[in-house]
Amino acid sequence: MDQLTSIASQRAWSRARRAAGERISFVPTMGALHEGHLSLVRRARQDAKRVVVSIYVNPTQFDNPEDLSAYPVTLAADLALLEKEGVDAVFLPTTSEMYPNGYCTFVEVVGPLTDKMCAIARPGHFRGVATVVTKLFTIVEPDSAVFGQKDLQQVLIISRMTGDLALPVEVLVSPTLRDPDGLAMSSRNRRLNPEMRAKALSLPFGLEQANRAFKQGERTAVKLEELLYNELLVHPGVDVDYATIVELPGFNEPEFANDQCILAAAVFVDGVRLIDHIHLGGQSLTVAQA
Ligand code: PAF
Repeated sequence: MDQLTSIASQRAWSRARRAAGERISFVPTMGALHEGHLSLVRRARQDAKRVVVSIYVNPTQFDNPEDLSAYPVTLAADLALLEKEGVDAVFLPTTSEMYPNGYCTFVEVVGPLTDKMCAIARPGHFRGVATVVTKLFTIVEPDSAVFGQKDLQQVLIISRMTGDLALPVEVLVSPTLRDPDGLAMSSRNRRLNPEMRAKALSLPFGLEQANRAFKQGERTAVKLEELLYNELLVHPGVDVDYATIVELPGFNEPEFANDQCILAAAVFVDGVRLIDHIHLGGQSLTVAQA
C-alpha cells in the first residue's frame, strides 16, 4: 500500500494508474476508521481495480474548535486496517499542503440542501466539506467516489456539487452500517462510555418509533417528529440539535409525510454529537435497548 503525503505525488500516482487503463475508486475519510468505512472500501473495490483512501481531518468543516481537537486520531490502526483490505494507496496530506498560507477559495452549495438540519446547526460545515471534497477530487482524479448514506445531507450535497460543477466523478452511496445494538457506526462512537451509549440508543429507537407510527398511518410531520423527541428527551444529558422530516429529492419540509420522506436527527449525548435518519415506511431498525 503506497502512502502519499503531497498533492504532486498523489496526482502522479493516479495519473500513472489511469494511463495504464486502470479505473480508480476513492474513499475520502477523516480516519478513526471502523467497519462502516471498511464497507465503503469494499464498495469501492467492487467498482474499480484501484482503491485510494484519504485520511485527513479537514479543519474547515469544523465550526467548533473543541470538536476538532476532540476528533479521534488513530493513524497506525487505520493504516493496518486499510492494508488488510488491500487498499492500493492512502493519501495523507498535511494542512499546509491542503490549505497553504493565503488560501482563500471555497466551494459553496446553496438552496434547500443547505438551509436546514446540519447546515444550520453547524454553520460553514458543508462549505468546508464541499471545498475539501472538490480539492480531493482534483488531486486523486478518481473515476468514482464512495460516501456513506449515514451522512445523507452530506452525500446529497456532494452529488449536487459534483453534477453542478461537471466533475468527472461518479458518486456512489453505501448503506449505513449499525452495531448489533442498533447504533449507527460512527467515529464519534469511540467517545461514548457504556452509560452514554445506552442514552445514544434512544436515537435509533426513537426513529424506529416514528417509523412504526408512520407504518400504522400517522402522517402529520410534527407528530412523527414529536415521537422521536419524546424518546430522546427523557434521558438527562441528551440534547436535541434537530429532528426534522424532509422529502427527497427536493429536501423540502412537508406538513404531511409520505414514503419519499426521511426523518433525520442530530443529538448531543453528554456533548458528543451523533446523527442518524430513517426512511419512513422503510426497513425497521432493531435496537437492543433505549
Ligand atoms: O464524511 C467525512 O468523513 C468527511 O466529511 C469527508 C467526506 C471525508 C470530508 O472531509
